[in-house]
Amino acid sequence: MLDRVVQLPVNIYTDPDILEKETSSVFRHYPMLVGHASRIQEPGSYLLSDWDSFPYVIVRTQEGHLRGFLNICRHRGARLVAGTEPCLKAFVCPFHGWSYDLDGKLKGVTKPYNFPDLDKHAFSLIELPVAERAGLIWIHPSPGATINLDHFLGFVGEDLDHFGLKELVPYRKSQIIKEANWKLLIKTYLEGYHVPYLHRDTLSHAFRKGVIAHHEYGPHIRLAAARTNFQEIVNVQADQRRILDFASVYYSIFPHAFFIMHPDYVSINLFYPEAPNRTIWTHEMLYRPEQFHGEAGMKALEKRFSYTNDVVFDGEDFAIAEGVQRGLVHGGNAMHTLGLEEGLLAIFQQNIENALMAHPSSPFIAKEPD
Ligand code: FES
Ligand SMILES: [Fe+2]
Repeated sequence: MLDRVVQLPVNIYTDPDILEKETSSVFRHYPMLVGHASRIQEPGSYLLSDWDSFPYVIVRTQEGHLRGFLNICRHRGARLVAGTEPCLKAFVCPFHGWSYDLDGKLKGVTKPYNFPDLDKHAFSLIELPVAERAGLIWIHPSPGATINLDHFLGFVGEDLDHFGLKELVPYRKSQIIKEANWKLLIKTYLEGYHVPYLHRDTLSHAFRKGVIAHHEYGPHIRLAAARTNFQEIVNVQADQRRILDFASVYYSIFPHAFFIMHPDYVSINLFYPEAPNRTIWTHEMLYRPEQFHGEAGMKALEKRFSYTNDVVFDGEDFAIAEGVQRGLVHGGNAMHTLGLEEGLLAIFQQNIENALMAHPSSPFIAKEPD
């Protein structure tokens, strides 16, 4: 697909039926990257979903295991964990006070005479599979599914191990609503054609124009973009070469993650659709502690974060995507025409189509008590 021009119909960014299919298929059948594990090391520490349409809580139990549950009470569905709790000893529902242990078992029903013969075992929290690899956490949105990260990630998993992500330290995480389709936002990352123009005054000086290598594993894509010093690699002994000294490496981890490896920091961008033209974007920046020391180090990180997050992603890439999205309302283009350097956009879209075909929509239905 990188050897021909491809056209994509623009209704994939506007049609509510297409989004409905994506959320009930693409966002239901694959493990989803949650973020870095460092914030959930201590017993009772937890992570909440950033996406209200898929409310989960992941908790570290007293025994040190990770457990994932829908953040929904089994009585009448109230949200169990609000996010203000410093750590969890149990799940206690704010609505009528039902309580569950960190393994999800229903322990206490207030005024139990209201529920004669209640079989507590049938009212455990709905568990979701979770897995950890390379300092990162994944959750599966379907109860009863299994996560096999070796199989799911292939060489991407080996790369993540190789880059030592476990040792990274979280710097900051932002969450912003963007008025554009989730796929349109991810696709801004998938080509270098725009870099000399849109990023003329920012990124473009750091890269050798158009020198990008890509590899695929299943629906995941790895890109390596050569930096301006790339030719100097010949001066480094083969066994001493480190790719991040000469290229930035990017991963589109299916379906909703875009991962960026720079020499001294890492950006994890996640995208959650709210509507065809509205997306929650989270950006978690992690850094290598040995490269940022003291006050000066924190200042340098602050600069990195605001440059990457505010100036480049938000101010350039996503501002353009929002403009494209607004223009879709008025027609103009029935199709977007992708040139040879934009082939990965077509591959990403094809991967979504493949997922839709392989996994027809399945609404989430909680298992009823037996
Ligand atoms: S909804 Fe949770 S106790 Fe009623
Ligand atoms: Fe860009």
